[in-house]
Amino acid sequence: MCGIVGYCGPKPATEVLLEGLKRLEYRGYDSAGVCVGDGETFQTYKRRGKVRDLREIIPEEVGGFYGIGHTRWATHGGVNDQNAHPHSDDQNNLVVVHNGIIENYQALKNKLISDGHTFKSETDTEVIAQLIAVMYKGNLEQAVREAVYLLKGTYGLAVVHRDEPGKIVGARNGSPLVIGVGEGEMFLASDVMAMMAHTKSAIYMEDGELVSMTKDSYKMFDINDQHIEKQVEHIHWELEQLEKNGYTTFMEKEIHEQGQSIQRALQGRIDFDGATGHLGGLNLTAKELLNIERVEIVAAGTSYYAGMVGAFLLERMARIPAHAELASEVRYKNPIVQPSTLYFVVSQSGETADTLYAMRELQRKGATVLGVCNVVGSTIPRESDGGVYIHSGPEIAVASTKAFTSQISVFYLFTLLMARMRHYSFEEGYTFISELNRIPALVEQTMQRAEHIREVARRYAHHENFLFLGRGLLYPVALEGALKLKEISYIHAEGYSAAEIKHGPIALINEHTPSVFLVPDGGLREKVINSMKEVQAREGKVIAVAVDGDDEIAEIADEVLWVPKTHELLSPFLMVLPLQLFAFEVALELKRDVDQPRNLAKSVTVE
Ligand code: F6R
Repeated sequence: MCGIVGYCGPKPATEVLLEGLKRLEYRGYDSAGVCVGDGETFQTYKRRGKVRDLREIIPEEVGGFYGIGHTRWATHGGVNDQNAHPHSDDQNNLVVVHNGIIENYQALKNKLISDGHTFKSETDTEVIAQLIAVMYKGNLEQAVREAVYLLKGTYGLAVVHRDEPGKIVGARNGSPLVIGVGEGEMFLASDVMAMMAHTKSAIYMEDGELVSMTKDSYKMFDINDQHIEKQVEHIHWELEQLEKNGYTTFMEKEIHEQGQSIQRALQGRIDFDGATGHLGGLNLTAKELLNIERVEIVAAGTSYYAGMVGAFLLERMARIPAHAELASEVRYKNPIVQPSTLYFVVSQSGETADTLYAMRELQRKGATVLGVCNVVGSTIPRESDGGVYIHSGPEIAVASTKAFTSQISVFYLFTLLMARMRHYSFEEGYTFISELNRIPALVEQTMQRAEHIREVARRYAHHENFLFLGRGLLYPVALEGALKLKEISYIHAEGYSAAEIKHGPIALINEHTPSVFLVPDGGLREKVINSMKEVQAREGKVIAVAVDGDDEIAEIADEVLWVPKTHELLSPFLMVLPLQLFAFEVALELKRDVDQPRNLAKSVTVE
């Protein structure tokens, strides 16, 4: 979604801002803009399209020593040059970039219009610019404080004023902002990636906090002008993790690095001596863990499917009732919170609005909520009651891949911990954890089969509909496979329980609708084969994802994508890989923008 970057310092501001905006491109956007000041005046350039299009309209000589920039993902008003940020007041004295949504913008706009102000865009952000300008009496900090007091909704803001050159004022409520502290230079951004090339020292702002910065100083304060002291934290990601490192797309790179990212998620958390999982951040005593009678997992999109895998495992292995629920539904259903229920919220970005708001609602009702997140310092881990980082490293492609396998890694560890505290013997725990420990190597083996998956994907890329079918633990994996295909290739794909097709979806089957079946290595295998035959009886093509050595499947299916053998309960790790690669190759074949698919945003910070 929208991205903000601000800079004060000795480097040419235009370059720093454009480079920062490029780093934010992965979030998804439809227009971009910058405002740069040189002390005499400031200039705004903005347009619909990509950062490279914006660069074309900025004259070479425009350098400046401070400024603010933005990538917009449209919410209020269409995608056009006028609605792109930055926005100014009608005197063009003050310029604002904004992430978030102002809910009372129409009422504020009506009042401003009746007072004689004119508007150039349809955005809620322009209202903020006009409002701050009305409040401005020679002190930008004060004007921003007074204006945000009147705003209802969410905002991450960066503001500059013509009369206070070299200064940026920022404010946060519900939309992330990070201050970057450099040597003789300062940054303000919605995401550390925008500033990592220049500084690794960051201050994560909280809701209700404001900042005022110049190139060599900053001060933080709240809405009542009370001074705030915060710790500077170190950004642990490396700049090279933000590069493609020889791959043509981030998605391909992220799919291929899952052996390592799973390894990082498991590292230090496998306790062979105790034959159990060890998760330091839970903040729960052994007794509290033993008293848990139910687990609820709340998330969106791919993280929700990882949560479904987690819930299934908890019931199956640890015999604890568990359930995954969509975050967007939890918040408004007036959830029933019971003291013996433990909640997890799962979010790669740690900023997804639906998940964050669901967490806050659960906490208001007294729930203990643990986060399973990737981005260190993001809002969910800071506000949760404890939790676990998945340590995937930056996930830049919009479509989530490596986060999924790292999220489930955490649920495997947690489930084992809970199972061992209940009925799992040392031997059972040891066998399981030994096989879990082998998963990174098996992932690497599966990746070597990418070429075959590419061939199959190319042959099937021109179909318009797909079904993805799995059962039990592989049902959420089927849902994830369908999501991956639709979001990056724009092909219609539905995920179903294989058993469920006879209750409706089988009507879709004909020679033009292939079905991708996830075939387990035991358990429900025969049942899945029955569903496969039902599809074939209706001339549907079958692509099976099956375990090495399953000769019967080789005879039945039209195509087989093979994965190595592992413990049946660990199969989601390996079965999801061919689905990610299949979606990727189909999208490539159809010449889609794999990393930044249309209409999608990486971190969905609006409801
Ligand atoms: C799918 C995808 C989305 C996200 C969802 C939640 O590929 O990327 O479905 O999984 O928006 O995002 P996080 O995990 O950041 O909360």
